[in-house]
Amino acid sequence: MPIKLNDTVAKIPIYPQASTYDFGGPLVKMSSNESPFAPHPAVAEAITAAGRNVNRYPDPTGTAFREKLAATYDMAVEQLVLGNGSCEILLAGAQVLLQPGDELVYAWPSFSMYPHLAAMTGATPVEVPLTEDHSHDLPAMRAAITDRTKMVLICNPNNPTGTFVDHDLIIDFVNDVPDDVCVLIDEAYIEFVEGSERDGLLPLVIERDNVVITRTFAKIYGLAGLRVGYGFAPVAFKQAIDVVRQPFSVNLVAQAAATEALNHPDDVVERVMSTLAERQWVETELAELGLKTAATQANFSWIDLGGLDEDAVVDGLAKEGIVVRAGKALGAEGFVRASYCDHDDNQRFISALRALTA
Ligand SMILES: Cc1ncc(COP(=O)(O)O)c(C=O)c1O
Repeated sequence: MPIKLNDTVAKIPIYPQASTYDFGGPLVKMSSNESPFAPHPAVAEAITAAGRNVNRYPDPTGTAFREKLAATYDMAVEQLVLGNGSCEILLAGAQVLLQPGDELVYAWPSFSMYPHLAAMTGATPVEVPLTEDHSHDLPAMRAAITDRTKMVLICNPNNPTGTFVDHDLIIDFVNDVPDDVCVLIDEAYIEFVEGSERDGLLPLVIERDNVVITRTFAKIYGLAGLRVGYGFAPVAFKQAIDVVRQPFSVNLVAQAAATEALNHPDDVVERVMSTLAERQWVETELAELGLKTAATQANFSWIDLGGLDEDAVVDGLAKEGIVVRAGKALGAEGFVRASYCDHDDNQRFISALRALTA
């Protein structure tokens, strides 16, 4: 008799994986919002050095890494939580907060993992449409909170639209939410926000017992392949997620690399500057092609194809070795999301798009 999977599995949506297409030449990978830059050389060295010790398990508490993060952000080490990617913190967070009958509120379209959190826990997803300018509708999200709501997700900047909600609005929102509702603010792209006080929401984690902020080393630090995320959270949240997941979830090489990456804030500044320059260039070129975009503050553009056939654009780009993310896989048809690469690759993308829109 074949094995019988439980009923929950069938309800979990399949995460839309980027296709890399069968292309002979060098790929332009604009589909996963990764960094086009390799890690800092000192980080690469830390990876090699740590690789010599992988006969040992990693520190399950990640203490040295958490202490480094705590010192960097002036937070109590007890409030630092680590994850095998920030995805793991999201998933474990849902596991400790949600059960069937509870409600999970989030904007839509937003990060494709969010529907998983409801599906895997049996909670009810409450998807609040973005505003016309592709931004979070915080008043509508507040109105969607009921006495069954246990968790609210705010993705800032939002994936896939790149839009950013001002911190003042989020602070007002959080202050208006009942104390027993967890507000998780996903700041995977916060480093790319121009001119903002990047760490402006961290005081909320200290002042309140219901706010979690997650971040990642996958984007700005160029460590997507190592899977390492972190968060600032109430102590009770941190302790609970440590209970539900496996003890060694952040591996030894990942801990060493991310700890070393924190020694190079100048490198982060350079990476940000380069991304902002490419963002400006790509957005200007898209406007010249007559394509509208959302007001992005991230390392990708959300492009309204203005009636062009989405499949034709995605496939046409793929034929040139350029992989973008189709809007319909992300919750909105007629759009594509493209992450910035280095300038040459961005030029290849714009030239190919020009040919397709001509
Ligand atoms: C909004 C958002 N949050 C979290 C993640 C996951 O990051 P990680 O690689 O740290 O799991 C992503 C990755 O694309 C993302 O877009």
